[in-house]
Amino acid sequence: MTAVGIDAIEVWTGNLRLDLPGTFAPQKGEDPEKYTKGLGLNASSFPDSYEDIVTMAANAAHRLMDRKGLEPDDIGRIDVATESAFDNSKPVSTYVAGCLEQVFDGDFHHANKGERKFACIAGTQSLDDAYNWIRAGRNRGRAALVIATDTALYARDDPGEATQGAGAVAMLIDEDPALVELSPEQGYGSADETDFLKPNQQFPSVDGKRSVQVYLARMREALEDYESVAGDTHPDDFAFIPFHTPFPGMVRKAALLGYRHMTRDTAIEEELADEIGRQPRPEAFDDDEAYHDALRDYMDGLKGTDPYREWYAETIEPTLSIAREVGNWYTGSVHVARASALKSAFERGTDLAGETLLLGSYGSGAQAEIHAETVREGWEEELAQLNVDEQLDSRYELAWEEYEEIHDAHNHEMDVDIEELTTPEAEFVFDGWGRMGERKYRYVE
Ligand code: CAA
Repeated sequence: MTAVGIDAIEVWTGNLRLDLPGTFAPQKGEDPEKYTKGLGLNASSFPDSYEDIVTMAANAAHRLMDRKGLEPDDIGRIDVATESAFDNSKPVSTYVAGCLEQVFDGDFHHANKGERKFACIAGTQSLDDAYNWIRAGRNRGRAALVIATDTALYARDDPGEATQGAGAVAMLIDEDPALVELSPEQGYGSADETDFLKPNQQFPSVDGKRSVQVYLARMREALEDYESVAGDTHPDDFAFIPFHTPFPGMVRKAALLGYRHMTRDTAIEEELADEIGRQPRPEAFDDDEAYHDALRDYMDGLKGTDPYREWYAETIEPTLSIAREVGNWYTGSVHVARASALKSAFERGTDLAGETLLLGSYGSGAQAEIHAETVREGWEEELAQLNVDEQLDSRYELAWEEYEEIHDAHNHEMDVDIEELTTPEAEFVFDGWGRMGERKYRYVE
């Protein structure tokens, strides 16, 4: 069976930066360590006044196509995943194609375009769609362009304001991919939940504490479902486990639960038994409460053990480095985590070819999905092209008053026009409104 997976990846950040411990925390009267240590965030990326989900998506896709030497004819699908769409009918992918047609010869008239929605998991679902389209043999030798793009903004003073972000990830899905091959095995955990939603409103309604619990419950279900088709998982099976990362503190919780699950009935559990005991089993308890208390105690002990800490440092920590500097990119977040992990391996000169990653995606509402990916020969050449650090370093640092203004400028209910804070260069920009209320875009040299 020919391998199908991700051939190339590009990351595009919003051009502004909000320092969370330095600028945000003091204004909220909070301890900066809530951000650096609790949530695990240093900064959020923000869109300047001329940026939105289309410009970031088109910029990521443009860079990707340019460096791969692709023409529109090479692309048979453009799927955009977003939870920040501004139109209930015309998909964002049509705007992105329109942008790209300004800079490439030819057009995308024969490419199937769509928009995927299921909160943050939609990016991974779009990968699935592309994978299935290629596997079904309907691609006529062409590749799929999958773009996850979001402006993850919350209402001012919502607790979610601490975890905002803006950016896009473009991925080329193809046969014989250079980066990773996707596993046919998948696991799902899916239930009708009310943890985070946007019922025809720009900013989300969030039950933050509940959303954390729902994330963990659905992720656990997805892992069990994955194991039912792929067999039991073990911590040593995976070079990295990139999770959906609304904030790194969320992944800290998910990783601990995952490690406990994967080490149950293994030599690692035995090895740790002297130090923290064996894992509590429900059948040994008279009631649920006593079982859950024992479980909490075990987890508290587990997170301090050397085997866990070493595993976390090697397998999880490298997936978080970009998220710490950009915040939540919703649909792009798990793909940022994968890019972070591969980037760290590249920088350390690790030979990853043939190694396995386990991807844990999540979307509120709610659904988790787990699949494996095998790193391909040639992954280093792809990683060498990423310019994430340069992009992050060249962001404009927002003062508090500027943050307030730019948040208002992006608020659809407010009519605020502000000067741009950065000067666009070699990128697509929002260029005002058309006669039917459509958004217009222009490429700036
Ligand atoms: N030093 C060290 N740590 C500190 C600290 C300090 N001075 N002050 C606080 N902390 C810790 C807290 O103990 C807490 O960690 P634990 O949960 O491990 O105990 C952490 O920092 C955050 O503190 P709070 O819980 O007090 O923060 P909060 O009340 O402001 O809410 C939040 C946090 C619920 C995540 C909120 O930011 C939120 O609603 N975010 C949006 C929803 C979200 O991201 N949910 C995640 C799952 S849903 C999902 O994944 C989909 C999605 O993308 C939205």
